[in-house]
Amino acid sequence: MAPLISIRSSDDKLEIVNQLLLPHITEFIEIDSVEDAHDAIKSMKIRGAPAIASLAALSLSQHLRRGLKASPPPDYLASLEALKAHIDGILAFLFTARPTAVNLGAATRRLGKTLDNAIAAGKDPLAIAEELIAESNAVADEDVGRNKEMSKWAGEWIIERVRNLTLSAAPQGLNVLTVCNTGSLATSGYGTALGMVTYLHETGKLKSAFYTQTAPYHQGSRLTALELQTLKIPSVMICDTMVGSLFQNHNIHAVVVGADRIARNGDTANKIGTYNAAVLAARHKIPFIVVAPISTVDLDIPDGTHIPIEQRPSLEACLVRGILYPNDGKTKQVQVMITPAGLEGIYNPSFDVTPAELITAIVTEKGVAVKAEGAQGFDLSPIV
Ligand code: MRU
Repeated sequence: MAPLISIRSSDDKLEIVNQLLLPHITEFIEIDSVEDAHDAIKSMKIRGAPAIASLAALSLSQHLRRGLKASPPPDYLASLEALKAHIDGILAFLFTARPTAVNLGAATRRLGKTLDNAIAAGKDPLAIAEELIAESNAVADEDVGRNKEMSKWAGEWIIERVRNLTLSAAPQGLNVLTVCNTGSLATSGYGTALGMVTYLHETGKLKSAFYTQTAPYHQGSRLTALELQTLKIPSVMICDTMVGSLFQNHNIHAVVVGADRIARNGDTANKIGTYNAAVLAARHKIPFIVVAPISTVDLDIPDGTHIPIEQRPSLEACLVRGILYPNDGKTKQVQVMITPAGLEGIYNPSFDVTPAELITAIVTEKGVAVKAEGAQGFDLSPIV
């Protein structure tokens, strides 16, 4: 079966699969404006650091393509000043949709730079709009290729490492644990950490992919489960509370996760629960690997204490989504409250920060970074 997709675009139509309804209902919704894109990202109809950057960029591309076709042309194409004010406003607005994933900021900064460079080069508004469209499309298009590169780097690295550590070289293949969802639904295709899992499977080196349910949004049980099932990759779901038990009772060769923001020293923000898995992996001497594009590395911050952590609405931690099978055969999604009505005092950070000290390797499309002998952190400056 073909891998799932998060975004589809053709000519003037931009659509995303509504991830709030997966895995039971596959519904594409149209993104008709930058406001729609902002709302879809903020409400997590689309999520995953690279996917939200792609959607933000594609919504700008759509906006500009419509502007170029419009008759009469919109006011913002009348002068360089008007164009700059208009585009800067859109980029600033898109940037506010979610705060932790730096890919969104990297995309809006990149497009802002394209705009400024084109103005400095003396281009006219129409030519600049064309250039911005091309650059926006590139943000989304580049993702799949680099995902395949980093997945291969990470896969080969862990195969080699396990071969060196265990003389039997895991004859039945590798068992890996992942958290959250980092596959096709979280990116423009193939995935990052889940891309590595896919690579191991495609090369016959994977025994089983374990994944956590990842409460409260359930990226694991709703999305990763669906992706692994679609790709026919052998897998086992565990509850978030079972990671320690899994490590005590099963031979897990690696933990592999994605990232929303990586500080200069390698401290990594990723989905809530990642830090728990890292602490337990260290205790059990299991390699802990972060797989993410270079655009996830934020050299402006020295360490993870500077990463803004998004707090999600309390309500999201108080309910689960599921389906009822009514007699008429129509699938209907319901949200079920699992807490007493009016409950106060709910802590719902969307991400946690895993200190570099607990991370064995950070893998990007450029290769595998490890810490210098005896160092607590990474020096990521040379690879960015
Ligand atoms: O809140 P989400 O679902 O957007 O969080 C997603 C994650 O934490 C992913 O691990 C990360 O974005 C990497 S996706 C390739």
